[in-house]
Amino acid sequence: MATRTRNTKVDAGQRTSQRGDIAPAKGKLGIMIPGMGAVATTFVAGVEAIRRGLAQPVGSLSQSGTIRLGRRTDARSPKINEFVPLSRLNDLAFTGWDIFEDDMYAAALNAGVLEKTLLDQIKPFLQSIKPRKAVFDHNYVRKLDGPNVKKGKNKRDLAEQVRADIRDFRKQSKADRLVMIWCGSTEIFATPGRAHSSPKAFEKALLANDEDIAPSMIYAYAALCEGVPFANGAPNLTVDIPALHELSRQNEAPICGKDFKTGQTLLKTILAPGFKARMLGLNGWFSTNILGNRDGEVLEDPASFKTKEESKLGVLEQILQPKLHPELYGDLYHKVRINYYPPRGDNKEGWDNIDIFGWLGYPMQIKVDFLCRDSILAAPLVLDLVLFLDLAHRSSQLRGLGIQEWLSFYFKSPMTAPGLYPEHDLFIQLMKLKNTLRHLRGEELITHLGLEYYD
Ligand SMILES: NC(=O)c1ccc[n+]([C@@H]2O[C@H](COP(=O)([O-])OP(=O)(O)OC[C@H]3O[C@@H](n4cnc5c(N)ncnc54)[C@H](O)[C@@H]3O)[C@@H](O)[C@H]2O)c1
Repeated sequence: MATRTRNTKVDAGQRTSQRGDIAPAKGKLGIMIPGMGAVATTFVAGVEAIRRGLAQPVGSLSQSGTIRLGRRTDARSPKINEFVPLSRLNDLAFTGWDIFEDDMYAAALNAGVLEKTLLDQIKPFLQSIKPRKAVFDHNYVRKLDGPNVKKGKNKRDLAEQVRADIRDFRKQSKADRLVMIWCGSTEIFATPGRAHSSPKAFEKALLANDEDIAPSMIYAYAALCEGVPFANGAPNLTVDIPALHELSRQNEAPICGKDFKTGQTLLKTILAPGFKARMLGLNGWFSTNILGNRDGEVLEDPASFKTKEESKLGVLEQILQPKLHPELYGDLYHKVRINYYPPRGDNKEGWDNIDIFGWLGYPMQIKVDFLCRDSILAAPLVLDLVLFLDLAHRSSQLRGLGIQEWLSFYFKSPMTAPGLYPEHDLFIQLMKLKNTLRHLRGEELITHLGLEYYD
């Protein structure tokens, strides 16, 4: 069999895909972040440290990942950011909103994730990012209250104020394109209701100050009205309602969410597909966490915890498919606990006790003790998401779809078109993401069939 070797460098900026156009990533990309806490500051400070050559973008698929093209014998594996046109880190500009008045430097110090010696090297840059006044409702995050909050005669008025912030940032940063990503606290549990059913109903509810419109929805609505893509890093409903799905499609502003897949759930969606692949049974999975950051404090409120719990519990059911395999997974006891324990700060500890069984039903146990750093795991996801959402926005194929399911890889509770179940298996999610990129660039999808090597 002939072996073709091609140059792995692809001119991502100029090449036009056979499957549609992708506009080049020219000019600046402005990143707008509601919630300037641990995740947001670790992301922004990290990008600046990388830009200055002080650190490496570890954990970021968009910066470090490669993508195989063609046959195994072709030896073509360009870097993802050379294969598709993504914004360069030097072209990113930032702004944010928070209920506290701390600038990014003070907020990063307070979050206690990155060392002061690193933060001091980029202090003026971080201090230049000051929080805009937030849209906030204490009933949605009962553990917090802060002074830096917008006032308005109704929720419509607050949405208009966020739209004005967006236009102001566009002008001031001279950004060509914008993306918004929610890194705010977890709001109380909610399900879609009448106010969320269509853009018209949503707008009526804004005017009527309907209590079912959460602050995070107001940011998302403002972004979509301005044609700005929106990602949701928390488990809140936010943009996952029919009204905002529709607005996203109408305004060609892509959306994705929910809830960054970082510590314990990341491991769960790595391990569970392995048990399932080997048809090993599972009768118990007990997960518990201690964490001491502000996120942990917010999650002490049962209503916020319920939002998180729903997001965390869904993954096993979908991966294991108990209806197809009742003898292996039909009687699974799955429990998730989060305990606020201040001494640990952002350095969470997550324990998993997994009761599995094998041949003839013989039981075994697995114990996982993950001493992780929540925001260190989340920051590269924020980077990838803003770059890929911006790519989707520049792609004639993706921008009108609304929900970007190919970004499920990054979420605990991926958004899908109505009627579809979300895909949770990390490896299927990765294949979906990479095949989407191949498809966009008119490359063959990789099926791993491989029969052609034996012709
Ligand atoms: N760190 C992780 O690994 C991880 C993983 C998945 C999801 N998340 C979610 O990401 C979000 C951020 O996490 P974090 O650790 O940075 O939390 P954090 O508490 O450090 O930061 C959240 C910030 O949002 C602010 N805020 C709350 N409501 C707001 C509003 N309406 N407008 C503007 N700002 C608002 C708070 O004041 C706070 O500064 C949380 O919802 C968390 O559940 C984090």
